[in-house]
Amino acid sequence: MMFRLYQVWSHFDVSYRYVQMHPVPAKAVILLHTMCGIVGYIGSKNATPFLIEGLRALEYRGYDSAGIYVAGKGAIKRAGKVSNLAESIPAGFAGPSGIAHTRWATHGAPTEKNAHPHSDDTGTVWLVHNGIIENYAEIRTRLQDTGIIFQSETDTEVLAQLIGWYYAENIPLEEAVSEALKEVRGAYGIAVASTREPEKLIAARLGSPLMIGIGDEGYYIASDATPVLSHTRQVIYLSDGEMAVLTPEAYSIMTLMRDPLDKEVETLEWDLEAAQKKGYEHFMLKEIMEAPEVLENTLRGRLDIENNAIHLGGLREVEDALRNAKRIIITGCGSAYYAGLVGELLIEELAGIPVEVEIASELRYRRFTTTPEDTILIAVSQSGETADTLEAIREAKKHGMLTLGIVNAVGSTIARETDAGVYNHAGPEIGVASTKAFLSQMTVFALVALLLRELHTERSDAHSSAEIIRQLTRMPEYARRILENTDSIAAIAARHVDMRDALYIGRKFQYPIAYEGALKLKEISYVHAEAYGAGEMKHGPIALIDSSFPTVALMPRDSLYEKTRSNIEEIRARGGKIITITTGDTADAELLTEDVIIVPDTHEALMPILTTIPLQLFAYYVALARNLPIDMPRNLAKSVTVE
Ligand code: G6P
Repeated sequence: MMFRLYQVWSHFDVSYRYVQMHPVPAKAVILLHTMCGIVGYIGSKNATPFLIEGLRALEYRGYDSAGIYVAGKGAIKRAGKVSNLAESIPAGFAGPSGIAHTRWATHGAPTEKNAHPHSDDTGTVWLVHNGIIENYAEIRTRLQDTGIIFQSETDTEVLAQLIGWYYAENIPLEEAVSEALKEVRGAYGIAVASTREPEKLIAARLGSPLMIGIGDEGYYIASDATPVLSHTRQVIYLSDGEMAVLTPEAYSIMTLMRDPLDKEVETLEWDLEAAQKKGYEHFMLKEIMEAPEVLENTLRGRLDIENNAIHLGGLREVEDALRNAKRIIITGCGSAYYAGLVGELLIEELAGIPVEVEIASELRYRRFTTTPEDTILIAVSQSGETADTLEAIREAKKHGMLTLGIVNAVGSTIARETDAGVYNHAGPEIGVASTKAFLSQMTVFALVALLLRELHTERSDAHSSAEIIRQLTRMPEYARRILENTDSIAAIAARHVDMRDALYIGRKFQYPIAYEGALKLKEISYVHAEAYGAGEMKHGPIALIDSSFPTVALMPRDSLYEKTRSNIEEIRARGGKIITITTGDTADAELLTEDVIIVPDTHEALMPILTTIPLQLFAYYVALARNLPIDMPRNLAKSVTVE
């Protein structure tokens, strides 16, 4: 039996406790897994409505085919949208248990044949799977040699067949699953049903998130909390190497070796309304419009204005390590990485600690050259499930570093695997392009930087934090004011809707925001957008500028306003159109550019939080005018659990 220090994050407090951990089979090395969605239900209701609804709730994760199995009725699969699947379900397709899946193809086309659920060749065992079975080829050959016929090219079917092969007459399903899982190498989250034991579902996890919902009318299986929110708040997060056996009346959690486990039931804090559109046309717009309350929630209870102090309960236990930190490495992917770039500037400016930021997919393969005793890794992730970020954390831990998380999804893998951290409290983010979580990540970095400043400088310096703390309290109000101007931002977007390319520029605190702005435009509008530090203009990108290639200039009146202003002059002199995000007096900006968005003035270190909002809206309105699927852009997934 292994025991490991396991940390549980909480709102404002943090507690450590020893949790019994069971060894994961040594051969089960987690390499990569896919972005799919799993749901399952067993209980006193008809499973079908929950399964379809659940798949809809998981659509945001990204997928390209879907399928459902219901006890007593069999399986239906469709390429394309969940709505295709829903339309194909005949009346009377009902039963007390079932499993369903959205598949995001990585190996094998997104066809009906390759969609899940897969079964063994007797049609007894039915399986949905997230992840990849690495040794599927050798297992398939072995099974084929015994006469088993395969229907698809997928690794998932191999696992279904293998379970079927172990599922001899006198063996319960959980034993067959356990035996099969002992043999596979790779990563998985699975849900398994059987025609022979219709009153049973099995869920198991190694490397792909899975949770069990405990409701009054039955038990639920889901990849994340969104499908279960409307049914129950009581959940158990399966950890790697764990399996759940569900019947209509009871559940039991065990290791993959079937040793019983006593798992804590946790209460989901996100409410259902937060995961719905509330009358907005898109989740993305709703989530942008939530900025003021998101900022309030991120800051709540964490600012001590009287004492100019910061309270981050999730970091209290590691304050000594924070005090001794000589170097910080920040990592993340996508928007989380750009939030990290803002974090770097905040920590360096406010606390004077050297920071390095690296995308997780690079960091995980780099050699750590810092001394682990005084280096801290901060991993940023909205979902808490991003594969590369998770692996970078694991590498840093192997190297002996303290790892901290800035995570939005409560109870997610990154929240559980980091030593300590801060939750964003941004609520569920459904739109694929991150908006409110990004604002919240930057806000958390401001808090972390102020805390580090407190721990690293003399108390006499505290008054210099006062202005930033005061400005932080105003952020929700400032955000509200920006959001009153959505019409003018929509009008600017309308003027540029036909652009093919765009350039985003900014300096210092606005430099990462240029990247984030360009990313938003790329993601949802499919407009080619590049970001540059404004000072780099003359080193290449200015060659691209003409009247059809607009530049979005981030130039609040901060310490570098004049410098960026000169760059704008250069662009204008070459006939380039300019959209300016600035502060204060419009006159100067209007002299320079036709499209001006004014945001409230604040401390320059906090300005990224404000200048981001118009860029999110700009990208949104361009995509809206182009009639694009804003919440689910092509080829993108919300939760990238593929390496
Ligand atoms: C995907 C999402 C982005 C997100 C990134 C990192 O690319 O589309 O919006 O920024 O993953 O995700 P994480 O959940 O780790 O923040």
